Amino acid sequence: MPSLDSIKKAPRADGIASILAIGRANPDNIIEQSAYPDFYFRVTNSEHLVDLKKKFQRICEKTAIRKRHFVWNEEFLTSNPSFSTFMDKSLYVRQEVAIREIPKLGAKAATKAIEDWGQPKSRISHLIFCTTSGMDLPGADYQLTQILGLNPNVERLMLYEQGCFAGGTTLRLAKCLAESRKGARVLVVCAETTTVLFRAPSEEHQDDLVTQALFADGASALIVGADPDEAADERASFVIVSTSQVLLPDTAGAIGGHVSEGGLLATLHRDVPQIVTKNVGKCLEEAFTPFGISDWNSIFWVPHPGGRAILDQVEERVGLKPEKLSVSRHVLAEYGNMSSVCVHFALDEMRKRSANEGKPTTGEGLEWGVLFGFGPGLTVETVVLRSVPL
Ligand code: CAA
Repeated sequence: MPSLDSIKKAPRADGIASILAIGRANPDNIIEQSAYPDFYFRVTNSEHLVDLKKKFQRICEKTAIRKRHFVWNEEFLTSNPSFSTFMDKSLYVRQEVAIREIPKLGAKAATKAIEDWGQPKSRISHLIFCTTSGMDLPGADYQLTQILGLNPNVERLMLYEQGCFAGGTTLRLAKCLAESRKGARVLVVCAETTTVLFRAPSEEHQDDLVTQALFADGASALIVGADPDEAADERASFVIVSTSQVLLPDTAGAIGGHVSEGGLLATLHRDVPQIVTKNVGKCLEEAFTPFGISDWNSIFWVPHPGGRAILDQVEERVGLKPEKLSVSRHVLAEYGNMSSVCVHFALDEMRKRSANEGKPTTGEGLEWGVLFGFGPGLTVETVVLRSVPL
């Protein structure tokens, strides 16, 4: 019989967890943001709400989004009339689509991450699947395991209904798992769809127009592991140095969502950009003081692009040079707010851009970086990253 002491000493990884691969996917249906107000009011039979449409146009113009991708299309919306109402019973059909599409979208991103990784999928020891859509039993983690043909002994963790901060949460959990066991390789998959929250405009609920103007569909996948196997050509893109989660004081209800028979109704308080901005300095200080870093322009930045105003106000308050947030702004512009998925897209964009521009590291030539997740609670996930040489 092994002693408890020997069990306690079961081999852990020697090194710190790194991101070893990234993959991303979006559905084929693309709508340009400039055309979205006409599309949205037409497809929901709301053309008579002339002033509301003008307001929606103003919001769309200010989002700094160029296009968004969606799993649904016009034919689907018009053949399901409950989507042309604000709150009619629609949960069943929303669930049906999300349960079908989320694992498929996640599998597309995961397949690309596995290709990027270049290792046999039999080396995947853990799976973290995260989505705000389509709760089911067994869940999207199970469906993905079946689609990809992963080992039945892959240890799975399913995260439903976390919201936008979860791009950071998945890195925090993946780091714990990857460092807990020698050779562990964690497949992280985030997949999100607006199928749960698309609804017609309502004069009584004008705040929902912001939700309708911002959110979009997409999926990201990462492979996380410690001690890259250089002999097998396994390479890190970013080291996950430290992680933390904090619930901001006095912010209850600032960002939330309630699932009912009418689908997911999101709440985004007008002050979200100010709340985030007010607290970001403290998060930075707590995360970087141990490393002796206090110049926020000396690090690379991967904040969740929750909305243009959040990025603008963080940039101003922290005193960032304009180029610091250009990767997050690019993800927002080209894909919209894909919730948990956005920060992973930004990491991929950053490492590729850095390589294309001949920068010496994956982090725009810099050594240290920060990734922020912002979401319901209001919750902030702070991840300290280190780039690797290119
Ligand atoms: N609720 C209701 N109305 C709002 C609003 C809000 N939160 N924010 C702005 N508006 C309205 C304004 O009142 C204004 O209406 P009028 O034109 O009729 O006066 C209109 O929208 C445009 O506002 P502004 O002229 O002040 O423009 P802006 O520079 O503020 O840009 C915006 C608008 C793009 C929506 C910007 O405010 C923004 O980016 N906000 C942040 C959005 C946000 O909260 N994102 C977080 C998403 S949540 C998330 O990512 C995590 C998750 O888990 C879901």
